[in-house]
Amino acid sequence: MSILIKNGTLLCPQGPVQADLRVEGEKIAAIGPALPEADCQVTDAAGKLVFPGFIDTHTHFEMNKGKPNETADNWATGTLAALAGGTTTVLDFAEPERGCSLESALETWHSRADGNASCHYGFHMTIKDWNPQIKAELKEMTAAGVTSYKVYLAYDNLKVSDGVAYEVIQAVGEEGGIVGCHCENGDLVTAGIAARKAAGDFSPAAHPLSRPDGVEAEAIHRWLCIAEQAGFPVNVVHISTRRGMEAVESARRRGQKVYAESCPQYFLLDDSLYSLPDFEGAKFVLSPPLRKKGDQDFLWEALSKGEVDTIGTDHCSFNFKGVKELGREDFSQIPNGIPGTEHRPVLMYTAGVAAGKITAHQMMKALAENPARLFGMYPQKGALVVGSDADITIIDPHDGGVLTAAAQHQNVDYTPYEGMEMKCRVDTVLLSGEPAVSRGQVVKTKQGRYVHRGPSRFWR
Ligand code: URP
Ligand code: ZN
Ligand code: ZN
Repeated sequence: MSILIKNGTLLCPQGPVQADLRVEGEKIAAIGPALPEADCQVTDAAGKLVFPGFIDTHTHFEMNKGKPNETADNWATGTLAALAGGTTTVLDFAEPERGCSLESALETWHSRADGNASCHYGFHMTIKDWNPQIKAELKEMTAAGVTSYKVYLAYDNLKVSDGVAYEVIQAVGEEGGIVGCHCENGDLVTAGIAARKAAGDFSPAAHPLSRPDGVEAEAIHRWLCIAEQAGFPVNVVHISTRRGMEAVESARRRGQKVYAESCPQYFLLDDSLYSLPDFEGAKFVLSPPLRKKGDQDFLWEALSKGEVDTIGTDHCSFNFKGVKELGREDFSQIPNGIPGTEHRPVLMYTAGVAAGKITAHQMMKALAENPARLFGMYPQKGALVVGSDADITIIDPHDGGVLTAAAQHQNVDYTPYEGMEMKCRVDTVLLSGEPAVSRGQVVKTKQGRYVHRGPSRFWR
């Protein structure tokens, strides 16, 4: 049985198109006006927006497994939540234990995800150690479908030196992959935390003060200078500030190929939340931290100009009770991260498209097409074109609802977006041609498959 999506507005690569779309098996088989209904299960999408399934470029499921600061979402709950919210593929960060191989991390992540995932998935690989053995493993990673990496310039247990960053960019670039970077100056973060504590400030409100915008901007500028010398395109993940985006834009003006990711929290939430009473500010502790309204305005403008390429969530969910609370007496002990993979599409639609800041087509590019291109999945994923995978998300812009922790699929005891009114609803999701969400309800679980990715396709 084929599926016919009729009368929808299709967000195609060239722009919105009023047309029908037929799915046969796992693929998109036809797009055009008035396609025949014979032998088809018909979904009427009149008044609705039909997107290629959204891709979350940035999740952390089962992070810190077995430790007191373990994340609340495992692979089963995290991918189910993503699917319920219209995301059909997530890219999660595999992370080797110190001194261990990349292959060991890949095995661990497969053992957690395979058979448990409700949406499709791939893995970025975190580089902590750098030595000839790890370098030699890059070829095996490419063969295994891992073509993107992350390095950190902050966090004592993760950060690499500038020299290592340079070598990683070159080695990965020669493999046709891309390296993303967590850009904060680790030494300045350490100094900032010490300064807040010396001032007697141990509350969550100290978190953004300990890592101000210059901490990010310096690291982005440095990362881009390193990449320029290494001679390969790079990605900057979770950009939070105007000054950080300006560093990206000025590198581009110099002719550098740089890709920029940001996240819904940096567009919708600001640093006033850290001053909430009763330790509630801890719910918003992530790094980089939430910023000022002026940063939000700058990011929206950058997104509308096509300067922000991808929107991921950095979903890293810690329960408030018992886990965020590890930092009740000391903000620097609050586990860093917030949930979001379920709500990214409705948030970006509501605050972006419905508010007139971006178009639905720009939203499609940042949440589906660009992630697929940058991370070696295009046009298999991220595109409504004949022959592509039938991962499809239909959004109803005439319905809505209020986001609450009580109603979410994410397995965490809060949402940073509690009480926010949404101007749309995820109606239907097809995963590889099969209905997985129908009228807003998840109807199929654990059908997610590993996505074996190829080289990046650069468009800048
Ligand atoms: O606070 C954050 N972002 N936690 C997740 C890890 C990371 O840096 O992406
Ligand atoms: Zn990071
Ligand atoms: Zn992250």
